[in-house]
Amino acid sequence: MKIIVAPDPAGVAVAAADIVTDVVRTEPAAVLGLATGSSPLGLYAQLAARVAAGLDMTAVRGFALDEYVGLAPHDPRSYAHVIRTTVTEPLRLHPRNVLVPNGIADDLPAACAGFEAAIAAAGGVDLQVLGIGRNGHLGFNEPMSPFDSRTRVATLTESTRRDNARFFDSPQDVPDRCVTQGLGTIMDARIALLIATGPAKADAVAAAVDGPVTRRCPASVLQRHGHAVLVVDEAAAAELR
Ligand code: F6R
Repeated sequence: MKIIVAPDPAGVAVAAADIVTDVVRTEPAAVLGLATGSSPLGLYAQLAARVAAGLDMTAVRGFALDEYVGLAPHDPRSYAHVIRTTVTEPLRLHPRNVLVPNGIADDLPAACAGFEAAIAAAGGVDLQVLGIGRNGHLGFNEPMSPFDSRTRVATLTESTRRDNARFFDSPQDVPDRCVTQGLGTIMDARIALLIATGPAKADAVAAAVDGPVTRRCPASVLQRHGHAVLVVDEAAAAELR
């Protein structure tokens, strides 16, 4: 795993944007995997600034990492909405080229299979943007998720629901189920770009990088990825050996 330590979140955003920019310059129709949450917001803002300055991302295709079950795409708390407002619109991607798992499908397993098929039809993910949960989750693959899992319905742990309550009016409103790309899906990406900032992520980052490869820390599976890059600030790197 390659590790880049930047002094602060702004430096993380620039370093991560440099990696994404390289991929897009090499392959204008690159396929990006797109995390939501706070961690990649600086990256997306940095890319938006580069797009405003002339970087062309109009041919880029995107697949979101996850979505809550039960939230419609127009719901401002849905990841479909977050992806639209922080990625699709500012980076000037074509909405038809950006797919978010459908959390309100009548047949969720069929929708998950369709999502996997769409990734395969696009030729696979060139670069997957990832954040990490304080419990080491990747996407919503909570501890003990199988390393070979594919896109599926999963249950959120109470700690993740608490962490994400800040995006909802009350903690009880956080859905307890989601659709998430599996760890196997994530590992198929040609580049895995994990972003972490702040002291709250230091333990999870250390477990993922220096700890054993174990289902207890889903992000530790990245130690087996041939091209994983971790971009962290000094606070998130504080516990690294
Ligand atoms: C988001 C996702 C999650 C987050 C993780 C960190 O699509 O799948 O794994 O990346 O929970 O969240 P933040 O970045 O908000 O700390």
